Formats: sequence, structure tokens, C-alpha cells
Amino acid sequence: MTIYEVVNPCVGDPYQLQYQSYSGGYRDMRILQNKDGTQLPDAENVGVQDFIGQRLGALLQNSNHPVVFMDVGGAAGLSAMRLAKQYETEVRDSKLAVVVTSANLPIDEYIKGLRGSWADEAAALNQEGLVHQKHTDFTSIPDTSISLPDGTTYDLREGVDVVHERLSLTAWAPNFAPALLTLGELLSSNSLYMVRRKDMTEGHNLDGQFRMRPVWAVGTTQAVVADSRGLEIIDHCEEGPYSGYGLTYRMLRGLDTAPVHIEPVPGGTPWKP
Ligand SMILES: C[S@@+](CC[C@H](N)C(=O)[O-])C[C@H]1O[C@@H](n2cnc3c(N)ncnc32)[C@H](O)[C@@H]1O
Repeated sequence: MTIYEVVNPCVGDPYQLQYQSYSGGYRDMRILQNKDGTQLPDAENVGVQDFIGQRLGALLQNSNHPVVFMDVGGAAGLSAMRLAKQYETEVRDSKLAVVVTSANLPIDEYIKGLRGSWADEAAALNQEGLVHQKHTDFTSIPDTSISLPDGTTYDLREGVDVVHERLSLTAWAPNFAPALLTLGELLSSNSLYMVRRKDMTEGHNLDGQFRMRPVWAVGTTQAVVADSRGLEIIDHCEEGPYSGYGLTYRMLRGLDTAPVHIEPVPGGTPWKP
């Protein structure tokens, strides 16, 4: 199956939307917004990929198990692969594992749908083989494990520390509620799950029709996941210089893990490659 056959029925020409939709790259997306929901100037903001990098760095300081980051519906997995490269030593030492899931296709098939410099970057990173891939029915993923470089096997059920989701289950799954409940099976009270706030309202049908998500239904499902897994729903940065700022992502944070803390990035986060 080609990338066209997968995405054409969804949104039309994948090449037009590649940067936003299929690269799995979110370095340029911003994580903070003003308290009233309006945008912050880019130069004063922090990239989503940078935020995850900061979070993984902090977790790696004091974790007694391998830290696991999963990009759910990560497609070409660009940011996930960049993060694995950023922490290459920890990945090779089995201290960090990065997992990219997709409903049906491996990363290299998604890369074939990319164009421009990001395609080259993604292809080069993919050669490094630093990320684990799961391209299968999402509901089966909590029953799977990953093999770490040191030969150990790590079960994903209640074992994933940071889950990122953008334009994926919440926005795309024909029936997002069971998908989100399954996602809850991956989280422990040490986890942070983050989904792009816009995905809670802007959904897509596989028949190509854009439609609004019933935000109360998404919110209710998230609340069920939060309740069942011992997580708190977070809509604002909790600590650090941006404490109190709004977040462009809805987060579900385990009660046993650190508050959401965002640091400025020296030199800022680039806007567009
Ligand atoms: C439009 S791409 C988004 C790629 C990436 N997250 C980004 O923002 O660039 C949609 C992703 O969601 C995944 N997806 C959609 N519905 C899914 C489902 N029901 N179960 C698992 N994955 C699903 C697709 O396989 C694909 O990886």
C-alpha cells in the first residue's frame, strides 16, 4: 500500500499537507499560549519538540526504569527520531526508548510521502534505527513489548512515560473513545499524555469530510482515562518561568510524576525549516 492510498481518502493531496500532517515533525509548533488562549509571539514561545526534550531530560535524571516516549500516530516520526538522536547515548544504553505507532504503515512508507529538506532529514534519521515502530491496530499495543539494546524486554502496558498525540487518534480514529481508553492502558501514574488541543474539536472522517468533534465527548473520555489511571487534567504550565501560561496541548499528568515545567530555549525555537 502506498502513502497516497492511505491518505488520499482522508484529506486529498498528502504533499500539500505533508509538513503539518504526516512528517510527525512538531519542532515548529508552539506549546504555550497566553492565559486568555491567544497566541504568544513565536520568539517568546517554546516548541513542542523542545518541551518533550526537556521533559525526557528531566525524567532521565531520576528514573529507575527505562524512560519510554511514544508518539501515537507519529507517521514519518520526524520529531520522535530527532529526540532519539538528541539522546542517542541514553537510547543506546537502554535508558530511553522512543516508540512511533501508526495504524498501518512503517516510517519509511510515510517518508516516501515527504518532500524537501525534511524528507532528507527524516530518511537520514531513519537509517540510524534509534526508534521502535508499531504499525498495527492500536488496541493491541498495550499487550506488546519492546526489546532494548541491552537484551531486556520492556512491556508497554502502564509503562509509557510520555505520550504525544497530534492529528492522530483523537482527531482521526473513527471511534476515538475506545482508542483513548486503550491509550490509558499504556499510562501509569508516572505518565504524561499530551494531545493537541485543536484535535479535541477539529476531527476528520475517513470519507474526506472535515467535521467538528463533540468536544464534550472527547473531554469526557479523557476524564474517564484520567480517573481510571490516577491522572490529573492539566491545561496550564505548572512550574517555571511560564507558570500559569496556557498550553496548546491538553495534558493528563500522573500524580506521581513531576509537574509540567517549561524552560525557555536559548536562541528560541526555529519557525519553519
Ligand atoms: C495525519 S497523520 C499524523 C501524523 C503526525 N502525528 C503529525 O502530526 O505529523 C495520522 C496518524 O494517525 C494514525 N491513526 C489514525 N487513526 C488511527 C487509529 N485508529 N489507530 C491507530 N493510529 C491511527 C495514522 O496511522 C497516522 O500515523
